[in-house]
Amino acid sequence: MQNPVLEAIYRRRSIREYTREDVAPEALQEIVQAGIWAPSGLNNQPWRFALIRDEQIRDKLAQLTKYKKIVQAAPALIAVFVDRDAMYDEVKDHQAAGACIQNMLLAAEALGLGAVWLGQILLNKEEVRRILDLDERLDLMAVIAVGHPTPGERRSQRKPLDSFILKSI
Ligand SMILES: Cc1cc2nc3c(=O)[nH]c(=O)nc-3n(C[C@H](O)[C@H](O)[C@H](O)COP(=O)(O)O)c2cc1C
Repeated sequence: MQNPVLEAIYRRRSIREYTREDVAPEALQEIVQAGIWAPSGLNNQPWRFALIRDEQIRDKLAQLTKYKKIVQAAPALIAVFVDRDAMYDEVKDHQAAGACIQNMLLAAEALGLGAVWLGQILLNKEEVRRILDLDERLDLMAVIAVGHPTPGERRSQRKPLDSFILKSI
């Protein structure tokens, strides 16, 4: 295959183990930049981000999820919120946040970094917001853990394409 976008889509895997190497601030900015170029309804861009490198904060956040080890191991975290004041339609704004997150995962892949979308931590989303000292209007969508992947192949599976296609008329 020769297409770099398709290659990145198929190559990307959730990365949950990282080396101790730091993530450059420029790389984190680039990932977020890719995120904000996602589509959004009415181009309302409801996403907001907290970029977290501080070890103590990472450790506090780690206590809020059963994926504690991933959060502790990742040198950087991106907490993705939607701003309720910027929203116009709950479903569409959440879809936009998902598109934004996927853009960021692909950007991390393109930069040779590894990332994983963490959703289980949403069970404690209010606590996450309080630890980050953010306004109540910010609704957590996900935390993305980012780091340099440890060596090794990651595998994932998908059901056959046919099993998803309802009709092809
Ligand atoms: C909405 C959502 C929530 C997720 N939450 C978690 C999570 O809390 N912990 C985790 O390790 N992976 C989480 N993942 C990653 C999935 O487990 C992963 O994408 C899936 O197993 C497919 O693997 P792949 O990303 O390598 O293709 C989440 C993914 C999505 C889209």
